[in-house]
Amino acid sequence: MWPPRRGCILRWLGLRVCRRTTLLFALFWFGFWVFLNGLVFVHRTIFSDFCTNDKSKRVLQRVCEEYKQGILTGDLCEDLCVTRQLEYKRCLYFENGKKVIEAEWRGVPVVLKSKLENFSSYESFSLLEYQDAPDLSPMDIVFYAMLEIKNSLGLEVRNATVPLLWSQRLRERGRPYSRAELASLWSLLQQEEYTFFKVLQDLSRHVVKVLGSCGHFYAVEYLIAGHAWNQNLFSLEEISGLSGSAGDGSSSSSFSGSFSSGHGVWMERDMVHQIALSFLEMVRHFENDFSHRLHLCDIKPENFAIRKDLTVVAIDVDMAFFEPKMQDILEQNCTSDDDCNFFDCISKCDVHKNKCGSKRINSNLQVICDKIFRHWFSPTLLGARAGFPLQVALQRAVQNCAETAGGEEAELSQAIQQRLLALLKQLLQDGLRQREGQGVAEGHSHTALNF
Ligand SMILES: Nc1ncnc2c1ncn2[C@@H]1O[C@H](COP(=O)(O)OP(=O)(O)O)[C@@H](O)[C@H]1O
Ligand SMILES: *[C@@H]1O[C@H](CO)[C@@H](O)[C@H](O)[C@H]1NC(C)=O
Ligand SMILES: *[C@@H]1O[C@H](CO)[C@@H](O)[C@H](O)[C@H]1NC(C)=O
Ligand SMILES: *[C@@H]1O[C@H](CO)[C@@H](O)[C@H](O)[C@H]1NC(C)=O
Repeated sequence: MWPPRRGCILRWLGLRVCRRTTLLFALFWFGFWVFLNGLVFVHRTIFSDFCTNDKSKRVLQRVCEEYKQGILTGDLCEDLCVTRQLEYKRCLYFENGKKVIEAEWRGVPVVLKSKLENFSSYESFSLLEYQDAPDLSPMDIVFYAMLEIKNSLGLEVRNATVPLLWSQRLRERGRPYSRAELASLWSLLQQEEYTFFKVLQDLSRHVVKVLGSCGHFYAVEYLIAGHAWNQNLFSLEEISGLSGSAGDGSSSSSFSGSFSSGHGVWMERDMVHQIALSFLEMVRHFENDFSHRLHLCDIKPENFAIRKDLTVVAIDVDMAFFEPKMQDILEQNCTSDDDCNFFDCISKCDVHKNKCGSKRINSNLQVICDKIFRHWFSPTLLGARAGFPLQVALQRAVQNCAETAGGEEAELSQAIQQRLLALLKQLLQDGLRQREGQGVAEGHSHTALNF
């Protein structure tokens, strides 16, 4: 065995790592960390092959050629193809045909998206093929749009909702839709994600804003997407970079880290609390504010993003379902509860009927506590010290929330939500008071370690 004095090589860490097992564990952990980072690096390098500037530019070029041929159109086409005010920046994501491209539109960063790269890959609007002169009435278009929405969201769209607004806009236009307009609209409606964003556009601030479209590509606001490997999940540096440039947004990447020094330490923690509050507000909103509850079945940092004002936004809604569709999805044949898990949405198996219950037994709140909040508010080796009773209380509340399914006991779920809300608000207030009281709190570097 080692003489104890030589064994305590990690004393400087403040941990009494004198035992061999602990040291081995630390080494293993380090190795594992290196391995993971390597994996992420390799993954990103491989994918950058498929996501080259060349290829993305060619895709957009084809869109413009088809625009000039009158095959497709949209309110952004002019800026993309003629005045060049919509400018390609970089490729964000190419996978399974899905294209996500970062661009700049009149000085504002935007993201261009399409489920498929070619316009011709979308199903064509069938009425166009049967009728030579497409003087479709606006009501026909609304009817088709409603069918499409119903299909893709599993919703019974009522007369009074969004399509009515559309038909109003159609009537105001006064002239019939052109072939290119119909074909473009149709290609967009085939993208469930677009339909989803568009329908919830004016109803929710937790859904990404659609700014316009050209052909099968639509532009959404540029947001700061979450990443599991980021210490705070969202790159907070990028926010202060964005807001520092007073709305012009173009300098987002040129920001350099003055943020993490001085008062930024306090700021950063408050920002996380603010984002957590926005998550809670989103949970409440999706639960109560639509005619059907909205279930998020794939909750991970990558599927959310934040705006400059720290509102949380759902950016990947492939796995978001309204109650009726959720019930359809959950009602499966089963022999045990394991058969009733649909990603983050689970129900119970009725072993007499061999059928999964149609009601989800867990909740958005439970999964967000488990997959997001726990990352921020878990006891850590260095942060578990006493002296921050509010933080310890928050950690307990998050733990409790993550372990309570909450889909069936509405009251219990409500109480957990209220508790989290109260704690976060209190912490934010304290943070504010501390910052005011101490001015720029230089001496308190320990707060940086609490995350
Ligand atoms: N509005 C946006 N702002 C910034 N980045 C975005 C935005 N939308 C998507 N992204 C980036 O593109 C990636 C893929 O987009 P996403 O729509 O989530 O594709 P998928 O549904 O295939 O996961 C995201 O992980 C995110 O990094
Ligand atoms: C898209 O169109 C281009 C050119 O017409 C073609 O080379 C490419 O294979 C098409 N891609 C898909 C996925 O159909
Ligand atoms: C929808 O509402 C409008 C007026 O609000 C009405 O004229 C129309 O008949 C309704 N359509 C259906 C299918 O209910
Ligand atoms: C579920 O089980 C029923 C009878 O038990 C059967 O008729 C049906 O086809 C099954 N469905 C699926 C999707 O396996």
